[in-house]
Amino acid sequence: MFRSERKTLKLFKFKKEEENIELDMERIPKHIAIIMDGNGRWAKARKLPRTMGHRAGMKTIKTIVREAGELGVGYLTLYAFSTENWKRPSEEVSALMDLVVEFIDKELNELHENGVILNSIGDISKLPEKARKSIEAAKRKTKNNKGLTLNIALNYGGRDEIVKGVKEIASLVSEGKLKIEDINEKEISNHLYTKNMPDPDMIIRPSGELRVSNYLLWQSAYSEFWFSNINWPDFQAKDLRNAIADYQKRNRRFGGV
Ligand code: IPE
Ligand code: IPE
Ligand code: MG
Repeated sequence: MFRSERKTLKLFKFKKEEENIELDMERIPKHIAIIMDGNGRWAKARKLPRTMGHRAGMKTIKTIVREAGELGVGYLTLYAFSTENWKRPSEEVSALMDLVVEFIDKELNELHENGVILNSIGDISKLPEKARKSIEAAKRKTKNNKGLTLNIALNYGGRDEIVKGVKEIASLVSEGKLKIEDINEKEISNHLYTKNMPDPDMIIRPSGELRVSNYLLWQSAYSEFWFSNINWPDFQAKDLRNAIADYQKRNRRFGGV
């Protein structure tokens, strides 16, 4: 079980040869979201096919999930496939979908043993049946766990999510189940995939791109952004610790003084 000794550690000083990162264990972000980018460029730099980059990126997921769990992060949301990624060559799309199935086949038992709740955000009804079934089974198996919630964003788009929420709310209004006056921020949040989850405290984007690419548009209203030039397959546990250390130095004002 991750997070076992969290309560007893107030200030955890990581002292490894290559790093001296101090983390306040009482102020670990509750929710971290990551745009896992740069797999293609990682592969290109090694003269490998792009799919090898995605495969290497899958290994990084394992490392980062473990690290996040050990640090006591409550929610980790990983952008794996956007609503725009269907534009890619069909072979690449298929390879990505196959990797989802492979990831679950290989990792589910260990995730489950460590108390991870596997969840997805995005419209998985449009995924190939094999991938959809595998995700649904993983959700069922892990839904009563008590550890880290791992959200995999698959066929996820922030705008698509808002459209879905607006349609649900409009139906409730037209059926007389909800009054227009009662539509508020909470009501809208309740119609997003992240219902009942805290907003991301921090959004990490590796690979050097400085944009949100349709990720968590509503939920990121007050997220802290952390960018890095590292491509996702090269992203390591220490990079996550560095990001959190930077996050802890920031002053989140939420519009106040
Ligand atoms: C991120 O890596 C993975 C997905 C979008 C599925 P990319 O495939 O976008 O890698 P780059 O941006 O081409 O390097
Ligand atoms: C964002 O990366 C989506 C994922 C990481 C799954 P992209 O590589 O698709 O984003 P753009 O096209 O560079 O904005
Ligand atoms: Mg990319």
